[in-house]
Amino acid sequence: MANNKLRVGILFGGKSAEHEVSLQSAKNVADAIDRDKFDVVLIGIDKSGQWLLPDQSHFLLDAADPKLIKLNSENRESVALVPQGGGGLSNLSAGGTHSAIDVVFPILHGPFGEDGTVQGLLKLAGVPFVGSGVLGSAAGMDKDVMKRLLRDAGIPVARSLTCRHGDVPDFEAISTEIGLPLFVKPANMGSSVGVHKVSDQDTFAQAVRDAFDYDTKILIEEFIDGRELECAVLGNLQPQASAVGEIKPSHDFYSYEAKYIDEHGAGLEIPADIPDSVSTRIRELAVQTFQTLDCEGLGRVDCFLKSNGEIVVNEINTMPGFTKISMYPQLWEASGISYTDLITKLIELGLERFERERKLKTSF
Ligand SMILES: Nc1ncnc2c1ncn2[C@@H]1O[C@H](COP(=O)(O)OP(=O)(O)O)[C@@H](O)[C@H]1O
Ligand SMILES: [Mg+2]
Repeated sequence: MANNKLRVGILFGGKSAEHEVSLQSAKNVADAIDRDKFDVVLIGIDKSGQWLLPDQSHFLLDAADPKLIKLNSENRESVALVPQGGGGLSNLSAGGTHSAIDVVFPILHGPFGEDGTVQGLLKLAGVPFVGSGVLGSAAGMDKDVMKRLLRDAGIPVARSLTCRHGDVPDFEAISTEIGLPLFVKPANMGSSVGVHKVSDQDTFAQAVRDAFDYDTKILIEEFIDGRELECAVLGNLQPQASAVGEIKPSHDFYSYEAKYIDEHGAGLEIPADIPDSVSTRIRELAVQTFQTLDCEGLGRVDCFLKSNGEIVVNEINTMPGFTKISMYPQLWEASGISYTDLITKLIELGLERFERERKLKTSF
């Protein structure tokens, strides 16, 4: 019998500070994807940015430990996507081309994964893929551009200043303008890497240096004292919002340690214990944020709820953490879509967008 399953390339790892998070998400997706519908091709990107076809059955080392988890780069084959190759992967080690991949699921977080770069490569290759395209990914990734677009759409965001490489931000002037404590963060990063809460001049200087280690542009942002609520969005032209969940960090804020290292670093409460009116408003803002930024497929919109009831959108993640226990899949689980069905739905959305765009004229 002919195999009519779609070949799904799971692209994971990557040259990013969120490499390890991506490995965990990829493992969970590979374990849960509907094998009656899909054949899986694992494509691991190592920390230097090389694309490898790892051993399918043993592609991770220390998979159960988030601190030690690693891409198994032994016996790997080095590959590259062929431009206009319709998903063909060329074998850089031995020559030749593998049979084409029908759709790619880029489970990559942060720069080189969630920022439009890999999406551009996939578009040039002519292969459908899951999630936002080039513009939505880039606009969602860059917190400075994201906030300017949201503000323009009338969506409430925290006040902030943007500094570029070479600027020496003046603590006195800034703290007078936006108050203390304040937050310093790289414009393009995620998982709280390079994010600092600052209350004095010394920690400010360190925070600015550290944030500039990760990006050439940083944000200095007013502190929002509020609960952290998250809403998942799914869809292309008619995106839907999930139930709303709450993050309850046990640390001073939702830091990298609280997210991934300390197993008691944060609790997830789904659904959040909030009035229906607040939940409705957050779900509206989530869809509005998603559409304002030209996102497609999936996105998790993170908000603050202040004690006076005000809601402030903090950010969107166009490729949110995607392990079985991550907020995004959990929010859909609570809204009636299982992890396996969610993966199928995302692949279908990627294919739908590809077909829609393929019908566009490329000559006049
Ligand atoms: N302006 C702010 N006010 C209060 N807390 C903040 C602010 N900005 C960030 N945080 C805290 O830092 C965490 C990470 O910041 P965030 O902007 O979401 O960056 P990332 O993209 O790395 O997740 C947030 O989840 C929140 O706990
Ligand atoms: Mg965040």
